[in-house]
Amino acid sequence: MNFPSSKMWLGGLTVVCVMVLLLGGVYVRMGPVTTGKRTIHRSRFLRIKGYQQLHSPGGSQNDKGLLSAIATHWKSSSDARNLSVKEQAVSTRNMSKEAQRTTDKERNQGRTVTRDQNLKGREGQSKTTSSQTVRRQKMSLVGQKEEQAVRKENERQTTHTTQKTKLQLTQVNHRPVATKKSVSKLSLCPKKPPDLVGSLFINAYAKVNLDEVKKKNPGVTFGGFYTPPDCQPRDRVAIVIPFRDREEHLKVFQHYMIPVFRRQLIQFKIYVIEQAGNCDFNRGMLLNIGVLEAAKDGDWQCFCLHDVDLILENDRNLYTCPERPKHLSVAVDKFNYRLLYSTLFGGITILTKEQYWKINGYSNKYWGWGGEDDDLYKRVVNNGMTIMRPDAAVARYKMVRGTHHKTSKINPARFSLLSTATHRMKEDGLNSVSYKVTGRKEYQLYTKITVALNGHVNC
Ligand code: UDP
Ligand code: BGC
Ligand code: MN
Repeated sequence: MNFPSSKMWLGGLTVVCVMVLLLGGVYVRMGPVTTGKRTIHRSRFLRIKGYQQLHSPGGSQNDKGLLSAIATHWKSSSDARNLSVKEQAVSTRNMSKEAQRTTDKERNQGRTVTRDQNLKGREGQSKTTSSQTVRRQKMSLVGQKEEQAVRKENERQTTHTTQKTKLQLTQVNHRPVATKKSVSKLSLCPKKPPDLVGSLFINAYAKVNLDEVKKKNPGVTFGGFYTPPDCQPRDRVAIVIPFRDREEHLKVFQHYMIPVFRRQLIQFKIYVIEQAGNCDFNRGMLLNIGVLEAAKDGDWQCFCLHDVDLILENDRNLYTCPERPKHLSVAVDKFNYRLLYSTLFGGITILTKEQYWKINGYSNKYWGWGGEDDDLYKRVVNNGMTIMRPDAAVARYKMVRGTHHKTSKINPARFSLLSTATHRMKEDGLNSVSYKVTGRKEYQLYTKITVALNGHVNC
C-alpha cells in the first residue's frame, strides 16, 4: 500500500480549508444577526429588510444602517416583542429617517382612541393593523405641512364649543362623536382627501345587498357613525334624511353614498327621520326634528339635509362644513343637469350649526310637496347671508326612481305661505317644532328615528 504523496496531502488540506471558508461564509450570510444587545434570526431580519425596501422605495439603507435602526428602536421600545414584523419594519424605516413622530406609547394610546370611537363593541376592528399604521403615516406626512393649521383648528373648535353652549336647546349627549381629546393624537386630515376618484358610475336601478354594503364599509359603527381612523377629521357632519316608505332608495343611498363620505374623510352619522302615519309629508319639519335629534346625540359642526333619492356622481363634491349655507345638488339628471332656477335650494343643502340656528331652521308649515326649500332660501337671505354652490361639473346627481316611488301630494297652499315666509321665520321653525319620537332603531349603517308630527293638515 502506497502512502499518500505530499501532493495529495496538500490537495486534501486545500479542500478542507475551502470547506471551512464556505461554511463560515454560509454562517455569516445565513446565521443569526446581532443588533445591539439582542440577536434575531436572520430570516426575521430579511423579512424586515424586505418589507422596508418594499415600502420605502429609494429610501432603503444598507444592512448596517438598518441593524442600528432596529437596535435603536428596540432600545426605545419596551413592547417591541409584541409588535408584528411589519410594524417593526415600518417603525424602523421611519425612525431611521428620523421622521417617526409617533412613539410606541403613542401608538398604544392610538389603539385606545380607536377603541373609544368605536361604539357598541366592534372588538378587533379597532386594533391598529400594519396597513392602518402605513395609512396613518401617509396622512401624517400630508398633515405635517398643516401642523400650524392643527393648532388653529383646535382654537377654532374651542370657540365653536363656546358658541354651541349658547345655541343648545336641549342637553347634548356626546355618545358617538369623537371628542377633541380622543382624536388629538392624530394629525388633521388633509384638506384634499387623497382617495377621491372623481366621476362615478351610478346605476339608479341597482339591486343592493346590504350585507355586502356592510362588509365594504368597515369602520362604520352600529347606528351609522364613522370617523376616519387615520386622521383627525376637519368636519363633523350629521347627515339628516327626511323619510317615509322609500326603503329601496335608502338601500341605494347607503350603497353609493357611504363610501363617498368615507373617502371624503369627514366624521359623519346618518340619521333617517321617518314620518309616522299617512298624513301629508312634511319635509321641512322632519329636517328640523332630525337636526334637533342629531344635535342631542353628538357634537356636530354642521348638518347636511339630504333627500334619500339623490346619488352623487362625482366624489369631488365635498360634504364639508361651508362658510355660507351651501346648495349641493346643483345638476340633477331629472332636470338635464341644469339648475332649474337661481334661487333653488332643495334636494341637498349643508349648513353649519350657527347658520341653521340663525335662520331658525325650516318652516314647519309646509304639508305636502313643494315650497319649504324656497322658504328656507328666503330665511337665509333675510338673515343677511347668501348661498354658495359648488361647480356644476362636480355637483352632479342622479335621482333614483326605481320600482317603488311614492310622491307627496302637491301643496296648493305653498304660494301663499311663501308670501309670508319672512314674517313667520322668527316663530315658525326650529324653536316651535312639535313632535313625539315614537321609535328609534339603530341599524348597522344608519339610525332611524320615527316621529309623530303635531299640527297636521289634510289627514
Ligand atoms: N320623501 C319620502 N317619502 C315620501 C315623500 C318624500 O321619503 O313619500 C323624502 C325623500 O327623502 C325624498 C324627499 O323627501 O327624496 C323629497 O321628495 P320627492 O323626491 O318626492 O320630491 P322631488 O324630488 O320630486 O322634489
Ligand atoms: C318647488 C320646490 C322644488 C322645486 C324643484 C319648486 O317649484 O317649490 O319645492 O324643490 O320646484 O322641483
Ligand atoms: Mn326626489
